[in-house]
Amino acid sequence: MRKVVSRQQKNQKNNNQTFLNAQPSLFKQVCVIGLGLIGASLAQAIKDNGLSERLVAVDRHAPSIEEAIKQGLLEAGSSTLSEVVAGSDLIIIAVPVQAVQAVFMDIKQAMDSGQLASDCMITDVCSTKTNIIDAAKAVFTSLPIGLVPAHPIAGAENSGYHARRATLFANHSVIICELPTTNYVAIAKLRLLWEAVGAKVMPMEANHHDAILAHTSHLPHLLAFNLVEQLASHDDNLDMFRYAAGGFRDFTRIAASDPKMWHDIFFANQNAIVSALDEYGVYLQTMRQLIIDKDSTALMGLLGRAQAARRHFGHMLASTPYTDTSAMSASYIITPSTTVSGTITIPGDKSISHRSIMLGSLATGVTHVTGFLEGEDALATLQAFRDMGVTIEGPDNGNLTIHGVGMNGLKPSKTPLYMGNSGTSMRLLAGILAAQPFDSVMLGDTSLNKRPMERVAAPLRMMGAVIQSTGHSGTAPLSITGRDTVGKPLQGIDYELPVASAQIKSCLLLAGLWSEGTTTITQPEVSRDHTERMLSAFGYPVTVDGNRISVEGGGTLVGGDIAVPADISSAAFFMVAAAISQGSELTLTQVGINPTRTGVIDILKLMNADISLSNNTHVGGEPVADITIRASNLVGIEIPEHLVPLAIDEFPVLFIAASCAQGRTVLTGAKELRVKESDRIAVMAEGLQTLGIECTVTEDGLIIEGKGTGGQDDQINNSQPVFGGGQITSHHDHRIAMSFTVASLRASEQIIIEGVETVNTSFPGFAELANQVGMSIQVEDTSI
Ligand code: S3P
Repeated sequence: MRKVVSRQQKNQKNNNQTFLNAQPSLFKQVCVIGLGLIGASLAQAIKDNGLSERLVAVDRHAPSIEEAIKQGLLEAGSSTLSEVVAGSDLIIIAVPVQAVQAVFMDIKQAMDSGQLASDCMITDVCSTKTNIIDAAKAVFTSLPIGLVPAHPIAGAENSGYHARRATLFANHSVIICELPTTNYVAIAKLRLLWEAVGAKVMPMEANHHDAILAHTSHLPHLLAFNLVEQLASHDDNLDMFRYAAGGFRDFTRIAASDPKMWHDIFFANQNAIVSALDEYGVYLQTMRQLIIDKDSTALMGLLGRAQAARRHFGHMLASTPYTDTSAMSASYIITPSTTVSGTITIPGDKSISHRSIMLGSLATGVTHVTGFLEGEDALATLQAFRDMGVTIEGPDNGNLTIHGVGMNGLKPSKTPLYMGNSGTSMRLLAGILAAQPFDSVMLGDTSLNKRPMERVAAPLRMMGAVIQSTGHSGTAPLSITGRDTVGKPLQGIDYELPVASAQIKSCLLLAGLWSEGTTTITQPEVSRDHTERMLSAFGYPVTVDGNRISVEGGGTLVGGDIAVPADISSAAFFMVAAAISQGSELTLTQVGINPTRTGVIDILKLMNADISLSNNTHVGGEPVADITIRASNLVGIEIPEHLVPLAIDEFPVLFIAASCAQGRTVLTGAKELRVKESDRIAVMAEGLQTLGIECTVTEDGLIIEGKGTGGQDDQINNSQPVFGGGQITSHHDHRIAMSFTVASLRASEQIIIEGVETVNTSFPGFAELANQVGMSIQVEDTSI
């Protein structure tokens, strides 16, 4: 696996390096007090990075000092501060928290006697912060202007000078408390020091730091020590330890760390730890009771929620997709191939998967889902409903069991709801949340946070919703005020959609379920109707009159079984793959052919594609069929505008088909493509041009000069490459990445596609399936 360093990291490093080069060392003399694991590791990192001209240390343990001098780490050392501190411009206190006040007294003395300047920088590495500030207040008449309390969130089970590692802080966070009394130069220099040793610096108030650390570090350590103590105290403790399996070992790993240090921390952060412990007691009692009551649904809900949250919070913090956090960036390296064949099953429909979670959660009774798409977008919806207290078992091989809570059963989430990359989740949920009694906040990843949300927020406000798009320009995060605060329910509206968008339509229809009166949505063109179909399947009356769709508020949903058909939007990549490559024939089994989604078939047929449907049947209220597609000579067309909403997600791959067609293809009326996961008109044009295709971007579409050579139908000419090779950036848009993969079937050289990790949002397993039918994709992790 090739590892690359992100541009941002490189810049950061370069900036720091420029600063460090400009002045040879950041400090003249750093004095480290305490050569334990953290102190010695930091000293080593300072030495290795040339951050100080001189390095001295104070430690009661003479052998550590002697060894550090002998090894060239220190210029001088002593057990007494006054012997070495003179001339230091930074003091790093790395002693146990309880010993810090005595160190401050020594420092004060050194300042009073003129050994140290009064603006000398003083920092610490202790795990608690308010007591450090209190200790300083007790010693100094006013807080020194060089004092910057800090806490590197890094450690290891081994302690002491010998355990030191210069890399201990690399990619770890360091919290810095920027006190109002501190000189800003001191803050800036400390930040530089930590960044130079590879840490990420975060400012935080001391009180907040202590409360957070009590929960995230101090409580887990306390519990680990306590669990070992509990087992050790048993009469049969030998057996207990002998048979203690992985769980005990994993859970108690941190109980091997320094007892004295933890003793001190527990006292130093007494209040915050006691309150975290009390809260823990309440949770423990709840779980105890669930077990006594054999409350299987509630216990599954709790365990499932916790398991998913454990996985979820990393992504949420980093605003990354859900799959493997290390795979924050991946590339496809594709060797051209010429033909595809086989019979394959495409994963479940994304739109229907989202709606199955939403309606299943709001229904009464249990809903079983099969064929659920375990892609990141649908998983974001699933997690959101778990966060709102719904028990959902699975997903297990596409199977889910949703224990519906009814129309009024959702609970407020304790954290903002994280929608990842999924516009459908955020827009449809906006309608549901606007009607709930409680407040909510929704966040997305960096791409979703750029997409327009006023298109749902504005009409929701007309219904009486209080909703703010708090991003730069009508974008997420969305903040929604609950009806309990607003004081009255939503009101039905008669709304004309400005664009044919199923997401806006669905959002407003869902809000209409809780609204007083009728909600009627008129769409300019037909858009996908899965919401309407599934509402009806769950027993909720929906009136459809041409392009006008209405619901009455106040009804209920009844849970049932949902079989999710294969996603035609995902199938489209394979349809185009077979259509453009010589001698190809692919059959895609049981694909959803809802007439509001089959624009891609209609457009490909207009382009002379050879597509046939068989085994037509119905699955969960949706029509499905096997789709067989064979190679043919495609021709360029003017795409009828009424087909645009019916193929809205398929245009990226249709542009690949158009490039292989004979003659020009013209798309108009597709402005919506500019506000998808990327600006799909601009990004596709850029990629097509890279691969040697002539195309012209228009305001609402694209004109592509196809390079196909045509020929009689019995004389299929699609063997000649139409694309060159090159490096394509997908702009982290899954459909762009998959479309250019398909282009490799008519490419003369290797195609590299960067930013393919988002393929998992809609099509987990895409590369494997593509390779299975004859393509040649190598997936490369290019994460930092
Ligand atoms: C979707 C609707 C479409 C589509 C999206 C899924 C849905 O968006 O692009 O991938 O599930 O309702 P718009 O409604 O914004 O066109």
